Amino acid sequence: MEKKIAILPGDGIGREVVEAAAQVLKQIEASFDHSFTFEYADIGGGAVDDYDDPLPAHTLDICKRSDAILLGAVGGPAWDHLPGEKRPEKGLLRIRKELGLFANLRPVRSFKSLLHSSPLREEVIDGVDVMIVRELTGGLYFGEPRERRTIDGEEAAVDTLVYKKSEIRRIVQQAFEIARLRTQKVISVDKANVLESSRLWRETAEETAKDYPDVELEHMLVDNAAMQIMYDPKKLDVIVTENMFGDILSDEASMLTGSLGMLPSASMGSEKPALYEPVHGSAPDIAGQGTANPLATIASSAMMLKYSFGLQRESDVVEEAIEQVLSEGLLPADLSRDKTSAASTEEVTKAVCTH
Ligand code: NAI
Ligand code: MG
Repeated sequence: MEKKIAILPGDGIGREVVEAAAQVLKQIEASFDHSFTFEYADIGGGAVDDYDDPLPAHTLDICKRSDAILLGAVGGPAWDHLPGEKRPEKGLLRIRKELGLFANLRPVRSFKSLLHSSPLREEVIDGVDVMIVRELTGGLYFGEPRERRTIDGEEAAVDTLVYKKSEIRRIVQQAFEIARLRTQKVISVDKANVLESSRLWRETAEETAKDYPDVELEHMLVDNAAMQIMYDPKKLDVIVTENMFGDILSDEASMLTGSLGMLPSASMGSEKPALYEPVHGSAPDIAGQGTANPLATIASSAMMLKYSFGLQRESDVVEEAIEQVLSEGLLPADLSRDKTSAASTEEVTKAVCTH
């Protein structure tokens, strides 16, 4: 199979973990006789430095011409002083919007060999398998106006939470489709007791559910959901929610796996290409040390093989290799009790490739 993959390393550990995932993709290419072409492009702080733009036009062109996109992470203290439009994170928001990537899939599974590295009790997390479906191009992160103004004579700030019905319907549909491949249960998370946008969300989820009589729909308030993730995560399967709730709940859920460094994600729209990236950020605190956990990004590339290329077997092989590496006890620092003997990014990557 011939595929073009755009590689957007970004900043900080983004560069390190994307290189690791690219090596794994090259291994799959060689082992299964595919032909993958990799085209590198700039995004984030590095792109601001070189092109004065966190998402340069040439990057967007390369992405649009590719079959799938692999992204690392953007941002860091060097760019924190910049105004909104120039911030690295804006590059990320813009690429999602430009490519219409409204659905962000964040699978959270517990690994047997990592049960010890979660702050939660083993019996709570053993067997957890949740899919968070986060709306990615609407809500508070995109709504206008967003501005400073004077209210009652003092400085104030305004953000806007807007959802159109069509935006809610398409993400809820996506969640129902995914639920059909799993345990036929969807939990829609909102704050319908307070927010009007959540009331529309809930009504629309109910309407959409009529097209999926085989799938059970439950509603849950976001504060309760935050509690249930810690209290009884095995009860959860597919969770669908709006942009900011999904952002926060998925970072929380990462603790079920042991580390943010284990969480992959896929962002897709109604057209190609989809974008694959770890849930974590650029981790400036450990960047450049060669110690970052590459498994979230490697698992993201496994999602790419499955969802964008339909290569189920190849995707399974990558996931099995991750499991094997972990069960052999080759753990990067974020998962390791003994930080001094932890495996480096490169050691973990090589082991995954070998398996
Ligand atoms: P972060 O996810 O970068 O780091 C949070 C903590 O987790 C840090 O202690 C970090 O060392 C650790 N960590 C994260 N990924 C890891 C990995 N693969 N291996 C080992 N440890 C890992 O979030 P933070 O610190 O809030 O943000 C840092 C920068 O990243 C900021 O500029 C932020 O805006 C940006 N960011 C970018 C995202 C993206 O590109 N998608 C997402 C989140 C944050
Ligand atoms: Mg986040």
